[in-house]
Amino acid sequence: MIVGGRIRVPGDKSLTHRALFLAALAPGASVVHGALDSLDARSTARVLRRLGAIITPLREGQPVRIRGRERFRRPTERLHCGNSGTTTRLLLGLLAAHDFSSTLTGDASLRRRPMRRVSAPLAMMGARFVEHAGDGLPLTIKGGALHSLAYQLPVSSAQIKSCLLFAGMAGRVEVKLREPQGPSRDHTERLLRAFGYAITEEPDGWIRFEPTGRLTPFEMRVPGDISSAAFPLGAAVLAEGGELVVADVGLNPTRTGFLRVLERMGAHPERMNQREEQGELVGELRVTPAALRGTAVSPGEIPGVIDEIPILAVLASRAEGETVFRGAGELRVKESDRLTLLATNLRAVGVKAEVMRDDLHVAGASTPPRGRIRTAGDHRIAMAFAILGTVPGARVSVDDMACAAVSYPGFPDMLKSIRRRSAR
Ligand code: S3P
Repeated sequence: MIVGGRIRVPGDKSLTHRALFLAALAPGASVVHGALDSLDARSTARVLRRLGAIITPLREGQPVRIRGRERFRRPTERLHCGNSGTTTRLLLGLLAAHDFSSTLTGDASLRRRPMRRVSAPLAMMGARFVEHAGDGLPLTIKGGALHSLAYQLPVSSAQIKSCLLFAGMAGRVEVKLREPQGPSRDHTERLLRAFGYAITEEPDGWIRFEPTGRLTPFEMRVPGDISSAAFPLGAAVLAEGGELVVADVGLNPTRTGFLRVLERMGAHPERMNQREEQGELVGELRVTPAALRGTAVSPGEIPGVIDEIPILAVLASRAEGETVFRGAGELRVKESDRLTLLATNLRAVGVKAEVMRDDLHVAGASTPPRGRIRTAGDHRIAMAFAILGTVPGARVSVDDMACAAVSYPGFPDMLKSIRRRSAR
């Protein structure tokens, strides 16, 4: 296809969750502009309402108003976190500092996702847990007074890190953390600093949080989500002509690994009009079609491209030569087992792809991809393969496109809007 247009993508999912959590515990009235209105964001708003926050309905393009309270109220029902791992894990950090018990659950995919990665360190801080289904959900947490913690994370994960920082904040205790691989996204650190919390990075890689701050009501603007932008940008790279601009998108350096990998593959994503807004880098991205070549993504790079691997794997399938994502085992515990599902779906459309230990190998192909995609309800698998379906001669059917609404409700309309015409 030929692409064209200047688009905006929905608000950043990570920042929307964090803004809602912080506003819910800031006594008074806060306003969040540009918040994502997706199923995952609604899950966070829903559980926070059950805990006593008053939150206006999330509506694309409209500000969200939140009336927060000093402490959460004991919920009268289970807290249903839908499909959202971020909602669950960040919430557990806050609940660890609340002296009541509550039970968290979610949809079938979320119930299978590992929670001991957060419950184990929270238990070291003093929270108590009752597991109802092994490592997954439902899970009951009983919080209270917390101790300080020094903890080496088993994997680099912004969800684990943010959970523990939130526990330190709500419990007013010191927390020291270290991530084993490359750094995960640092939105929580940036936001907490804005409320006066001291977070320092020590030379040996430890992050030290001190409970020096206080949450007060705020007004903020959430930029577009680069993880959502990665899909239209991927479509533009694969296109036969034209150019695409994504405006007002977050360019936090812990989130732009996708652009660095794209560059290595031979594309030229151009950053324009970069500015800092409330502690986060924001700007525009312009992309034109490119002939891609394979690359190797190292284990240290994985945390910085964690949500972009589905679209990168699809791009790799159209590159010359082999691409390998090394040390990508975390993909097994996302909304689906993305490692296995990427390989089986790529094979289903005629691409050579293989998982070896924790590495995903993808061989580039030039024949049109044809076949049926099984998403297992995973939004990013669905969107990545929908983009593959835009290449000339493709016949790719995706079994469930509705799941895109977990992070990108307008995805099908966006895809139509950037398509100028088919080249042949
Ligand atoms: C997120 C962190 C990532 C990412 C998820 C959102 C966050 O998970 O995959 O979509 O907002 O903190 P991990 O940090 O567990 O890798």
